[in-house]
Amino acid sequence: AKYTWVDKDTCIACGACGATAPDIYDYDDEGLAEVIFGGDANHGVTAIPEDMHEDMLDACDGCPTDSIVIADEPFNKEG
Ligand code: F3S
Repeated sequence: AKYTWVDKDTCIACGACGATAPDIYDYDDEGLAEVIFGGDANHGVTAIPEDMHEDMLDACDGCPTDSIVIADEPFNKEG
């Protein structure tokens, strides 16, 4: 399985990821990106289905600050 998480400390609210993968990434009140798929609330604990991996990878590649991370294990972040 694949999991994803956004590091809001480095996100500059550029808005690219939500445009590329709107089912996975959305923005908080400050415009910073977060993982919303499956109600994840940017904990990085929700497995992303295989048919969404291409969008996820495109968003990761397109982030100018490398704030989107992807791993095979859950991140278990606070948000
Ligand atoms: Fe932030 Fe990168 Fe998305 S800067 S808004 S995580 S593309």
